[in-house]
Amino acid sequence: MTLLRDEDLAAAFDHASRSYDALVAANPGYHAHLRRSVRRLGLPGRGDGLRVLDLGCGTGASTAAIRTVLPAAGITAVDASAGMLARAADKPWADGVRFVHTPAEQLADAGVDGPFDAVFAAYLFRNVSDPDAVLRTVRTVLRPRGRLGVHEYSLSGRRADRAVWTLVCRGIVQPAATLLGDGPLYRHLWHSVVHFDRADRFADRIGRAGFDRVRALPLPGWQTGITHTFVASRAQDPR
Ligand SMILES: C[S@@+](CC[C@H](N)C(=O)[O-])C[C@H]1O[C@@H](n2cnc3c(N)ncnc32)[C@H](O)[C@@H]1O
Repeated sequence: MTLLRDEDLAAAFDHASRSYDALVAANPGYHAHLRRSVRRLGLPGRGDGLRVLDLGCGTGASTAAIRTVLPAAGITAVDASAGMLARAADKPWADGVRFVHTPAEQLADAGVDGPFDAVFAAYLFRNVSDPDAVLRTVRTVLRPRGRLGVHEYSLSGRRADRAVWTLVCRGIVQPAATLLGDGPLYRHLWHSVVHFDRADRFADRIGRAGFDRVRALPLPGWQTGITHTFVASRAQDPR
């Protein structure tokens, strides 16, 4: 099976946008885990005066997590799927949230300029064709010592964790998604996770892209060993 990429992936998310919120609502802890990952950024207080970029915001679940944890921060939320983004933008947001339709690879062309104090990317990186290039782009829009938070399905390497992932996908997610006409996207979901970096390797990848203080932190419940928060800081430029 070929993984979905770029325009094909955006089209699949456009279609899935109708049912996305209902599907994630059935995933125990989805929203609480996003908030936990945002808290792990370690940003001060309510986020007064801070600028946060939500990369791959989808229908706004990650944007809402940032908003809840950092209610005073300004948020720029971007996504490559017009359908997902329209769902996000239709929700009621307080001032200080803006949505931009652009792939993560083309932030500058879309007028999304740094410096940001933090970049948060939930369930984005295993979907991009070139994660190293996106990490480099993220680094350029972060202020020096700015924070990166990646919330991602990235397996631990234990066979049991992969088996749980397969069970959840084949037994629950794919049958529901097929009924909704989104079978290809959710088959992509299973493949994209098993083909993505293991957690230790993704942490190394982040480090090689010019970040330090990289940590891979587990999430609780059935997602332990399957979903991680990766946190890191933009390293100083070499002199
Ligand atoms: C699984 S959804 C997650 C959405 C949201 N962050 C959340 O936590 O619910 C992944 C999102 O990433 C977007 N995406 C995938 N590849 C992208 C890219 N190269 N640039 C920007 N967005 C992308 C998709 O359109 C989709 O909305």
